[in-house]
Amino acid sequence: ATVAQIQSLLVNWYKKTRRQLPWRETRDPYAIWVSEVMLQQTQVATVIPYYDRFMARFPTVTDLAGADREQVLKLWEGLGYYARARNLHKAAGVVVDQFHGQVPADEKLFKSLPGVGNYIAAAVLSIAFGLPLAVVDGNVKRLLSRLCAMDAPVNRSSSHKQFQAMADRLLDQSCPAIFNQAMMELGALVCIPGTPGCSVCPLFDHCIARKNGCIAHHPRRIKKKPI
Ligand code: ADE
Repeated sequence: ATVAQIQSLLVNWYKKTRRQLPWRETRDPYAIWVSEVMLQQTQVATVIPYYDRFMARFPTVTDLAGADREQVLKLWEGLGYYARARNLHKAAGVVVDQFHGQVPADEKLFKSLPGVGNYIAAAVLSIAFGLPLAVVDGNVKRLLSRLCAMDAPVNRSSSHKQFQAMADRLLDQSCPAIFNQAMMELGALVCIPGTPGCSVCPLFDHCIARKNGCIAHHPRRIKKKPI
């Protein structure tokens, strides 16, 4: 199986089956940033109403930067992981003060902002600006673990670089935005934990764990020592 075949199967599957979600109707980097911060630890269905309210109240990064922290946290109430909201608010201030209100289309500059790590940088910069950065989140790790029969445990932090390296190899440089969203979507909807939907998977013929009959052994996890 060539990388190019896998890319085109994945991208075609996504184009055919993608869900219409509020943040997929825009190319605004700020809007995509807000959505990815919310989606990083929260399910799509929960995020939708929060995203809609947040964007209605703070339609631009300048509106967010000008708000009080209390107002921002109020809109975040119920989403949890409130450091995300505080960082996003702080980062909006930096974007306004240092970048003329423009989200920087540059990995190093964007990652200098509070709360912007590898995941947020890759997701926002690929989706909004088409930069060739491969996204690795929990869903993508599970998918890669099966597709490539990887032995690196998904719950060990030192495995991250192996998943990142595999995602980098697979990334379709000609359409990073679609490729990354397709990987996340396939992981979220088909290559799910437990029993995945292999019969409807566009990568059925290419999935090494499936071919080897060892889906149940991927992703691998290390047992945590009891405390
Ligand atoms: N999960 C988080 N961000 C996502 C995105 N952009 N597309 C699909 N699933 C996601």
